[in-house]
Amino acid sequence: MAALLYLVLLLPLLSFKICSGASPRQTMTTGSHIRGEDHGEVFLISPDRTFSCGFHELGTNALTFSIWYTTSATNRTVVWTANPYSAESGYSPVNKYGSRISLNHDGNLILTDTNGSMVWESRTSSGKHTTVTLLNSGNLVINDTSNNIVWQSFHSPTDTLLPGQNLTKDTRLVSGYHHLYFDNDNVLRMLYDGPEITSIYWPSPDYNAEKNGRNRFNSTRIAVLDDMGNFVSSDGFKIEASDSGPGIKRRITIDYDGNFRMYSLNASTGKWNVTGQAVIQMCYVHGLCGKNGLCDYSSGLQCRCPPDYEMVDPTNWNKGCRPMFSTDKNQSTEDFTFVKQPHADYYGFDLSSNKSISFEACWNICLNTSTCLSFTYKGGDGWCYTKDLLYNGQVYMYFPGDNYMKVPKNSNSLISTISKKESLTCEPPGSEVMLGSASMYGTKKDNINWTYFYVFAAILGALELLVIVTGWYFFFKKHNIPKSMEDGYKMITNQFRRFTYRELREATGKFKEELGRGGAGIVYRGVLEDKKIVAVKKLTDVRQGEEEFWAEVTLIGRINHINLVRMWGFCSEGPNRLLVYEYVENESLDKYLFGERSTESLLGWSQRYRLALGTARGLAYLHHECLEWVVHCDVKPENILLTRDFDAKIADFGLAKLAKRDSTSFNFTHMRGTMGYMAPEWALNLPINAKVDVYSYGVVLLEIVTGIRVSSGILLEERQIDFLEFVQEAKHILSTGNVGDIVDDRLHGHFDTEQAIAMVKIAFSCLEERSKRPTMDEIVKVLMSCDDEDDYHPAYSY
Ligand SMILES: *[C@@H]1O[C@H](CO)[C@@H](O)[C@H](O)[C@H]1NC(C)=O
Ligand SMILES: *[C@@H]1O[C@H](CO)[C@@H](O)[C@H](O)[C@H]1NC(C)=O
Ligand SMILES: *[C@@H]1O[C@H](CO)[C@@H](O)[C@H](O)[C@H]1NC(C)=O
Ligand SMILES: *[C@@H]1O[C@H](CO)[C@@H](O)[C@H](O)[C@H]1NC(C)=O
Ligand SMILES: *[C@@H]1O[C@H](CO)[C@@H](O)[C@H](O)[C@H]1NC(C)=O
Ligand SMILES: *[C@@H]1O[C@H](CO)[C@@H](O)[C@H](O)[C@H]1NC(C)=O
Ligand SMILES: *[C@@H]1O[C@H](CO)[C@@H](O)[C@H](O)[C@H]1NC(C)=O
Ligand SMILES: *[C@@H]1O[C@H](CO)[C@@H](O)[C@H](O)[C@H]1NC(C)=O
Ligand SMILES: *[C@@H]1O[C@H](CO)[C@@H](O)[C@H](O)[C@H]1NC(C)=O
Ligand SMILES: *[C@@H]1O[C@H](CO)[C@@H](O)[C@H](O)[C@H]1NC(C)=O
Repeated sequence: MAALLYLVLLLPLLSFKICSGASPRQTMTTGSHIRGEDHGEVFLISPDRTFSCGFHELGTNALTFSIWYTTSATNRTVVWTANPYSAESGYSPVNKYGSRISLNHDGNLILTDTNGSMVWESRTSSGKHTTVTLLNSGNLVINDTSNNIVWQSFHSPTDTLLPGQNLTKDTRLVSGYHHLYFDNDNVLRMLYDGPEITSIYWPSPDYNAEKNGRNRFNSTRIAVLDDMGNFVSSDGFKIEASDSGPGIKRRITIDYDGNFRMYSLNASTGKWNVTGQAVIQMCYVHGLCGKNGLCDYSSGLQCRCPPDYEMVDPTNWNKGCRPMFSTDKNQSTEDFTFVKQPHADYYGFDLSSNKSISFEACWNICLNTSTCLSFTYKGGDGWCYTKDLLYNGQVYMYFPGDNYMKVPKNSNSLISTISKKESLTCEPPGSEVMLGSASMYGTKKDNINWTYFYVFAAILGALELLVIVTGWYFFFKKHNIPKSMEDGYKMITNQFRRFTYRELREATGKFKEELGRGGAGIVYRGVLEDKKIVAVKKLTDVRQGEEEFWAEVTLIGRINHINLVRMWGFCSEGPNRLLVYEYVENESLDKYLFGERSTESLLGWSQRYRLALGTARGLAYLHHECLEWVVHCDVKPENILLTRDFDAKIADFGLAKLAKRDSTSFNFTHMRGTMGYMAPEWALNLPINAKVDVYSYGVVLLEIVTGIRVSSGILLEERQIDFLEFVQEAKHILSTGNVGDIVDDRLHGHFDTEQAIAMVKIAFSCLEERSKRPTMDEIVKVLMSCDDEDDYHPAYSY
């Protein structure tokens, strides 16, 4: 009976489908409409059939009016949607039955739901002869009687930007709580705009626009992806697709995880590959793990909740974690204690920050403050930060402090977290993946006699892989993002590639133009096929095998910071080992301080200060941020190159073996470094850690201030004194308050006293016994605190 009824009901529907099954139209005229029931059909199609537009099925009976890439019959890549959007619940769909999109006689394109209510309209009223067309660019346009465009979908983007579509001051891309837009200062930014907080996370909020390489003074505010795969913004930001060139379909999408990526379509597979992205370290995306959540790289990218907290919504990390205990403010302080989260911190929202106080005092301040939820304590100089709002939590592997979460004393997690932690440390991190990546580098599993470096390389590779694979899986599994993204994600670009020897021989004109010579080899100028100027370093005396070399340079190739010379690629063929670097216009710092350049263009004080800061930044990145354990080992003026604008770029990093930071057992097979800049521990045969770079930096800093090669001793009052005597002398001069006697005479007193004192003091502290030396991060902070640029606001809480 029921079946019969079904048939009776279905028959007219079926017949209608057959009748209306006309081929998709290219233009819609007034009075026409399409119904939700017919969502299987395409409403409009672009002349070249790249894009389609119509009803898109979001779920059972739930439709959106959208434009998508017609990459394959089944898989749609939606690039625009008309339905109203909210960060919490996404697009609000219309019901399949009874909804319709129609172009009424006023020329208004409207989307109506089942009960006749209008959920979206184009707000156009250009009359009877209005037409709607989907252009080859993917732009849905409404033309008036005289064929002028009165509305276009390109002017109200959702989460995707198509080639030729302008991102302007009036438009933004939005996905969940994450926005890509032009800020009031003309800078293209990404913002987390959550229910409780808003914070900018890209470009880095730690630095001002200039330091992030952006220009605040071009008020054009336009960013556009061109047909070649260049995404260029008026503030100077640019990314180039790794497959740049014409004829490839691309898009830029701000993904649900808050990063924006460029995708290219593989025409043969119909899949999208990631060919560019903004944020490299996903933990820097604010709001990623939600309120109270912690982003952690230590065993693959993951979000986790602090002890005694649970996920608010097990399917969505953006919603964060909530306490599993009562947070009644009326409770007595005796009921609470703290659980340590090693090396963790939450960005911003400090209730108070106090320096030089004891751990117990910090503990008590938070305990006695009912609004305090947690505190971060940094030993050493005793920094105490109490927090009343916990966002953007991150575990930094080498953060010299810990976070403490306030939890009830009777909490179960006090015991369970400790045991959990122990069980974690017993397992080798990601052992399975390690093997995978080791084989990726072409090692043999039976070769047990690996060098330390090798293991680190493997772990690093594994981490990288984990970050990429797990990260993707973790974040997108729950959000129904097409699986094709996964493949693309593995191909994250960094334009780093392997060159053939022939290519490089041609690029350098058979190694004609020599730029310089260093311990590791000779550097030549070269021009690649794409006209990019590069510096090609031909390594002499390479003892490493092919695989080791390959692994090492691949890691270096991933390091990307404005104060570090970028490596574009390498060549390893037979006995030849070459490295391809970005070309830095000006020569090295030594030439400007003591060499031939110093007479014709003496570095001014502010240039010196900037070079000192830039160098510190680059080293801080190497030590603390990028791969967590790169020690340069040969910091000296020869290795600090100057850009056209006299910004510092450190060269030759990563060539020393990658050292595990603070390791007590890392052995260098042979010493590296240059006499005069080498820390005493080299000679004492002590384990080497990042503090050797801090020492060398101290020496360089003194040379920047004095303009004299003090590392090799100087002539003082007709007496040859060595470096240590010089430092004693300089300390004495500083204590008498006469910093001017230390500063380069050639500046004729044109220097900033406060900055000079800070720099000399930092230099002295760098030359201390190594446990007393500051970290590069701390040096950056101190230098920045005497930066006289007006627009620097310290955003980080440490
Ligand atoms: C139609 O339904 C929506 C939601 O189901 C409701 O918000 C709206 O008020 C209704 N409109 C009318 C005219 O009934
Ligand atoms: C509407 O205008 C655009 C741009 O001028 C044009 O490409 C398109 O063909 C027009 N549509 C119709 C139906 O003429
Ligand atoms: C994008 O901006 C350029 C330059 O301002 C302009 O010529 C072009 O028409 C704009 N494109 C669209 C689709 O608005
Ligand atoms: C501003 O940016 C636009 C678009 O990128 C560019 O065409 C223009 O030359 C820039 N103006 C200045 C003054 O740099
Ligand atoms: C498309 O993907 C296939 C298989 O993954 C690959 O072999 C091919 O090189 C890709 N095409 C392009 C243009 O990248
Ligand atoms: C707070 O505690 C006091 C005394 O312990 C009690 O009288 C009061 O009712 C409590 N207030 C609330 C809101 O629980
Ligand atoms: C900590 O700093 C706050 C201001 O940030 C101040 O009110 C408070 O007295 C300081 N506490 C201690 C113990 O120094
Ligand atoms: C905080 O409480 C402890 C006892 O719980 C007390 O000894 C200490 O004086 C209090 N500190 C402040 C700043 O109120
Ligand atoms: C469509 O996407 C699914 C997963 O998202 C994939 O398994 C399938 O192979 C794709 N189909 C085509 C034709 O690309
Ligand atoms: C896309 O990814 C596939 C495998 O993931 C790869 O074979 C292909 O070369 C990539 N294509 C482009 C254009 O990067």
